[in-house]
Amino acid sequence: MQKPEFHPEIFAELALDDMAAVKDFAARFAPLLAACDVVALDGGLGAGKTTLCRAIIQARGYEGDVPSPTFNLVQIYDPSPNSLRENPNVPTIWHMDLYRLEHPEEAFELGIEEAFDTAASLIEWPSKLGPHLPAGFLTLRLEICEITDQNNGQNNDQNNIGRKLSLIGDRVWQERLKPVFKKDFIS
Ligand SMILES: Nc1ncnc2c1ncn2[C@@H]1O[C@H](COP(=O)(O)OP(=O)(O)OP(=O)(O)O)[C@@H](O)[C@H]1O
Ligand SMILES: [Mg+2]
Repeated sequence: MQKPEFHPEIFAELALDDMAAVKDFAARFAPLLAACDVVALDGGLGAGKTTLCRAIIQARGYEGDVPSPTFNLVQIYDPSPNSLRENPNVPTIWHMDLYRLEHPEEAFELGIEEAFDTAASLIEWPSKLGPHLPAGFLTLRLEICEITDQNNGQNNDQNNIGRKLSLIGDRVWQERLKPVFKKDFIS
């Protein structure tokens, strides 16, 4: 059977210049996450991928520690009873950091098929999955940049170094995110 075509494009940009901006994005984004969503975190070393995933997981109602999965490769977050009471469809979240993966096939040992079939996946270093990254994913691309807007980054303690976040996805993701992120859309 022929695979459906997948045409991702950059459709929105936001300045995430301090933790307040990261948390604000996460608060808007997290409620939209559903089972079977695959979200690829793109960005170099120290770009802020783990920080953004942590904020999204916490915004989804998880109250415990959210450590970086650098060593375990995968951390799994089941929804809290409170968030389930609010919305019975809150997904389990798999947070993965695949930097240490040497071959894409090793990902199967981590259980990625279960993640893709039943949970929402947040994946740092998604290129490590090679051909096993399912089409239809959303990319959150983080780039380190200078803060140019004086209204941003008021609580930034990193000498005016902030983050630009680009949202990259196909029309399905664009339609899903538009109601919440319309003002951040590029056109
Ligand atoms: N939006 C942001 N604004 C300012 N500082 C940030 C932001 N996001 C992350 N940081 C800071 O940048 C540093 C690196 O963040 P983080 O560990 O999240 O990056 P990463 O992309 O996951 O790195 P790695 O490639 O090692 O996995 C941390 O000190 C964090 O506090
Ligand atoms: Mg990280």
